[in-house]
Amino acid sequence: MWGDPARGRAIVANRQVGLCLLCHRGPFPEERFQGNLAPDLQGAGARWSEGQLRLRIVDSGRINPATIMPAYHRSEGLVRVAPAWREKPVLSAQQIEDVVAFLMTLRD
Ligand code: HEC
Repeated sequence: MWGDPARGRAIVANRQVGLCLLCHRGPFPEERFQGNLAPDLQGAGARWSEGQLRLRIVDSGRINPATIMPAYHRSEGLVRVAPAWREKPVLSAQQIEDVVAFLMTLRD
């Protein structure tokens, strides 16, 4: 299914699900505390193609093995995962598409 930018925005801003704002800041005027460990998400849709964004969310370690950004859709190769979370990616494939669709709207 195609990604839904409104759902994607909610995932990115959510403190339990995406946690993106722990490290990133972005165009979220309603969010008081935003991160400064990572690039501003504003303009991400202009800097990167849809495929490049998807790869960064799914498994950014493929681009930068030393990254602190979590792999949001990878279940293999993780160590010390609690049993309830084994084999379960942080975000579902649909949620990944939603997040990518939202990031594509951040063009300036
Ligand atoms: C623990 C910190 C952390 C979290 C959480 C995190 N990121 Fe990142 N992210 C980074 C860092 C650091 C980079 C810079 C590249 C690198 O070091 O891999 C980055 C890079 C990116 C980029 C490329 C930015 C650019 O324009 O260069 C995008 C897009 C991105 N992250 C989106 C997200 C989204 C969406 C989420 C939540 C689903 C998220 N990140 C969660 C740390 C984080």
